[in-house]
Amino acid sequence: MRRLTLAAAFALAIGSAQAQDYPTRPITVIVPFPAGGPTDTIARVTAQSMSQLLGQQIIVENVAGAGGTLGTGRASRAAADGYTLLLHHIGLATADTLYRKLPYATRKAFAPIGLVTDAPMVFIGRSDLPANNFAEFVADAKNGGDKVTFANAGVGSSSQLCAMLFMAAIQTKLTQVPYKGGGPLMNDMIGRQVDVGCEQATAATPPVQAKRIKGFAVTTTARLQSLPDLPTADEGGLKGFALGVWHGLYAPAGTPAPIVQKLSSALQGALKDPELIKRFESINTEPIAPNLATPEALQKHLASELDRWGPIIKASGQFAD
Ligand code: MLT
Repeated sequence: MRRLTLAAAFALAIGSAQAQDYPTRPITVIVPFPAGGPTDTIARVTAQSMSQLLGQQIIVENVAGAGGTLGTGRASRAAADGYTLLLHHIGLATADTLYRKLPYATRKAFAPIGLVTDAPMVFIGRSDLPANNFAEFVADAKNGGDKVTFANAGVGSSSQLCAMLFMAAIQTKLTQVPYKGGGPLMNDMIGRQVDVGCEQATAATPPVQAKRIKGFAVTTTARLQSLPDLPTADEGGLKGFALGVWHGLYAPAGTPAPIVQKLSSALQGALKDPELIKRFESINTEPIAPNLATPEALQKHLASELDRWGPIIKASGQFAD
């Protein structure tokens, strides 16, 4: 017993010593989706502010594929030294059930640092889609069924989750077209290669405002300032339909607590940074309240989301493997 506490005390001392000098070299944040997509954008804006507070460069590395599980697997195997982090979203919780064979244990593989933002989503369609409002969007989806193509960013993405909930709500199976991420998805939507989708406002608002794609409804409980003419999905007839894409920052499990704490403090500072707040507003999302940018709050939130989505996905029978 005495030896154990000594070892723990020793590890803590090492951790504290490490934390004092940390970071002494650039930090990498793995984003499990391609560059140019909503999660990549959120990561780059957050990294910029955090790097100023930590006095060290933060590099965003995109490791896309398999609905975000490829990059997540990579981050889970990284050294627990604070120099490799993961920025991921609600997909970390849904993938845990969607994939029956994951190369990591979601509940154990990461040391949560803090929540970052909770991004709204927008139901969208190609610019020449006949529907001109959400009621017509829903009616055409119901009538069209599997002739209607619904773009998603892979099984485990937020757009796939939205597609799953939408099809359940209208009780109609549409044809899902998977992409590696929101970036390539939006290019094809603008190019009229796919009919409809549901994407984070971060990526959907600019092309909707520019009328390069159509917007139909938002998945928040209140309308978005940036898209005031779009009803909420609930207002538009899908009673109770609401979905936010919460994003969190993680380190590999075993990363010394003082380092995780230092990163959480830097994240909290970044979320109060007027420059970040302005950038987040310009990409139609909001920084999470700083008191939620803590390891405890993210740990609790991730656990409750894993408990929430597990049964829903099992009931849907929609597994990735
Ligand atoms: C992305 O950044 O590509 C998205 O977060 C993908 C998604 O979850 O829809």
